[in-house]
Amino acid sequence: MHSVSSILKEDSLLPYLRVEGKSCLSGHVNISGAKNSALVLMAASLLCKETLVLNNIPKLTDIDVMTNILKSLGANIKRNKNKLQINASGLNGNQKELPYELVHALRASLVCIGPLLTRFEEVKIPLPGGCRIGARPIDEHINGLQALGVNVRIKDENIIAKITNPLRKLIGTKINFKCKSVGATETILMAATLAHGTTIIENAAEEPEIQDLANMLNKMGANIKGAGSSQINIEGVNRLHGCIHRVIPDRIEAGTFLIASAITRSPLTLSPVIPHHLESVISKLEEAGCLIEQSNEQVKIIPPQTINSVDITTMPYPGFPTDLQAPYMALMATARGTSKIKETIFEKRMQHVGELQRMGSKIQLQGNTAFVSGVKSLKATSLTGGDLRSSAAMVLASLSAQGISIVEGLSHLDRGYENFEDKLSSLGVNISRSMIKSPNRMKKNTKILEQPNIVSSDAEVA
Ligand code: UD1
Repeated sequence: MHSVSSILKEDSLLPYLRVEGKSCLSGHVNISGAKNSALVLMAASLLCKETLVLNNIPKLTDIDVMTNILKSLGANIKRNKNKLQINASGLNGNQKELPYELVHALRASLVCIGPLLTRFEEVKIPLPGGCRIGARPIDEHINGLQALGVNVRIKDENIIAKITNPLRKLIGTKINFKCKSVGATETILMAATLAHGTTIIENAAEEPEIQDLANMLNKMGANIKGAGSSQINIEGVNRLHGCIHRVIPDRIEAGTFLIASAITRSPLTLSPVIPHHLESVISKLEEAGCLIEQSNEQVKIIPPQTINSVDITTMPYPGFPTDLQAPYMALMATARGTSKIKETIFEKRMQHVGELQRMGSKIQLQGNTAFVSGVKSLKATSLTGGDLRSSAAMVLASLSAQGISIVEGLSHLDRGYENFEDKLSSLGVNISRSMIKSPNRMKKNTKILEQPNIVSSDAEVA
């Protein structure tokens, strides 16, 4: 007998992409605002009672979830195309608890903890839970908040955080992170802006998204120095005001398109980008044989017909980003020679290996290191992206493969790539999105679809 939820699942519509292989790209692609910046800037709106205007906000499902979280707390949000106006003056403090379903849909919602503590002295947030790219601890967030004087306990799968000191404020201090964490740096950065006294973060993450956050907070009246380096100094101020801010271009989306150009061996121009945010990727692609011209806000890439194999090891910024490891592996699967791809940031971020192997790639996996021997041509097949960046890798591999591929797992892709197939289509790719009634029907009716999967809704960040 079927349960109600299984019947619903069978009848639900699943999107998939049909991608024609041996594609050539040409022209210019417009790069959207950075998802990872936008999410944290939206959370920062909770720190003040005036209107924040955020430009260049990408249209993504992760942004929709963050919008719903802020609305559930009482914020007033208006969206007009890529402009978001947020006013959090209406938060009354009765709502100190983030909704379970939304936190589980968006792990990055954890960054609301600092602003909410500052506003209401206490907050209850469900633990973000498991994730498709491995265990993702939150100890650095918690230790940092405790150092700022917050009483934190975990009860019934919830984080319950309270300011209990007589000042009823966070108290500035020195925090030395054991590991470089983007999220924990952002949590403490936001919490410390309105704290009493000075906070020094040592071993801070240096990602451009952290610089973007600090720039916006400074526009709002904060006193932050050193963001973008490993030591950040934050002098607490009494209040923050509204501002207008433009989100930086998405370096991961830009990197994905650079790799799309390389894997299809076709030249491409990208803008707007901040070229130095892409340095580690550009230097690996140059080593692989691509010619790359950088100007103010634009990058032009001209790949060779034969791509050389080049090793990478993922590292915190300015190292090679873990978020581009899967797309890069797809490229190396088509390169001359053997490359070594080592993942050091997340423990379970090799889910694309099996799918690439089904396309005929020669990859040997040893723990978190993949040895990739390039093949002449990948074979089209039915593919499923297991997380956000793997989904993008599946599309890129399909662009280069012989034949027509079907890519599922679009709920992941839509979290982080704005109008991905439209952008590829405008570059000349024959790609289209369709809906299928149920995975089972897909299996019966379409020969090419051998292993359709149901997409899980596990919380993810990347
Ligand atoms: C952010 C990005 C994600 C990117 C990742 C690394 C967002 C929304 N997501 O995720 O796209 O892949 O940075 O560049 O910005 N860690 C701990 N304890 C903690 C926190 C983290 O041990 O309290 C570890 C993690 O397990 C991981 C490493 O630190 O091994 C880096 O994680 P972190 O930088 O925190 O990633 P996120 O902020 O979750």
